[in-house]
Amino acid sequence: MKNTNRTFTMIKPDAMRNGHMGSILTHIEKAGFKILAMKLTKLSPNQAKEFYNIHKERPFFNDLIDYITSGPIVAAILEKENAVEEFRNLIGNTNPKEAQEGTIRKIYAKSIDANAIHGSDSDENAEIESNFHFSKDDIL
Ligand code: CMP
Repeated sequence: MKNTNRTFTMIKPDAMRNGHMGSILTHIEKAGFKILAMKLTKLSPNQAKEFYNIHKERPFFNDLIDYITSGPIVAAILEKENAVEEFRNLIGNTNPKEAQEGTIRKIYAKSIDANAIHGSDSDENAEIESNFHFSKDDIL
């Protein structure tokens, strides 16, 4: 599998509501990620169901859709060498209670449902998720 050096992120509704957008973007930039595309947006229920289609059989699916559509998000494409793995290290465990000190989820997230930020789990998914939110012309 090719390493694209790109990943996709969303700053999620809880972080936006709590006023952490700027701090999280600073954290990301200080870690050496370049922002290639970015937008403030809000997902409709249908968009959210499509985006999280891989989780549709999971017991938390309906709550996940309600939560991710509950307010604005920031979607972005990021670039850094080995971006997917580096970014997952930066954001920490899905469950903030298990996330390492200094990670974005440890600092800004309260629970596994409202965990402040998304990071793609593979290069393949980074491309799928980026294409969901952006067209080629959006990438600078
Ligand atoms: P993320 O990996 O960004 O996308 C799927 C989300 O589902 C995940 O973050 C969590 O916020 C949420 N979620 C809720 N419950 C669970 C769970 N038990 N396991 C994994 N993800 C969960």
